[in-house]
Amino acid sequence: MEPDFWHGRWQDNLIGFHLDEVNPYLKEHWPELAVPRGSRVLVPLCGKSVDLVWLAEQGYEVIGVELSPLAVAAFFDEQGLKADKRVTDRFEIWQSGAISLICGDFFALTAADLGEVSAVYDRAALIAMPANRRPDYVQQLKSLVPAPIKGLLVTLFYEQEQMEGPPFAVSSDEVRNLLSATYEIEMRQNLDILEQNARFRQRGLNLLEEHVYLLQSRN
Ligand SMILES: C[S@@+](CC[C@H](N)C(=O)[O-])C[C@H]1O[C@@H](n2cnc3c(N)ncnc32)[C@H](O)[C@@H]1O
Repeated sequence: MEPDFWHGRWQDNLIGFHLDEVNPYLKEHWPELAVPRGSRVLVPLCGKSVDLVWLAEQGYEVIGVELSPLAVAAFFDEQGLKADKRVTDRFEIWQSGAISLICGDFFALTAADLGEVSAVYDRAALIAMPANRRPDYVQQLKSLVPAPIKGLLVTLFYEQEQMEGPPFAVSSDEVRNLLSATYEIEMRQNLDILEQNARFRQRGLNLLEEHVYLLQSRN
């Protein structure tokens, strides 16, 4: 999607993707990755997710990347955190304790902007990308975190012709096509979530699954 689409979503508060609670899959499956405490976790397209706080509470240094300054400001405001801000040539970086949010375009980041990253948490980031951008997203992730990493990936699957994204449907086959050259992939959950998602039923879906994967670099 173009940046204006997302800026408009935040402007108009059309953020149905945002959860007020920590994502249950994060709590359940992150410990299985055994990512060392004290290491750095990247959260691409982070929005104002409370998951950033949970990760910091587990002892990680957390770097989120988010296009919308409204989202970044809302995150620190809602969490009651006072952030220091600095401006670089491409980004505004807000930091409070172990949490840094890089405000700007994920595709403009370089590995040097992030430093060494040990793990990635992608909830609703890959599925925010239209099909033609997903290979670029995966390539960018790979170039940003070339060292071995672990990851948790949460995606949605439905019949794409029944609804326009985002969120886009990303099948387990597509996840494997996109990621298996770089990561070992283990699907940990495949849940039918249509019943509890009236807004997607109203948009015409008769199937909606949430998939949770653990990733581990092959190198
Ligand atoms: C579907 S939301 C998911 C947010 C978050 N991961 C969550 O679980 O609540 C996708 C987010 O990505 C942001 N975004 C979209 N394109 C981006 C880009 N190129 N660079 C950085 N952030 C982007 C949007 O502003 C939006 O907040």
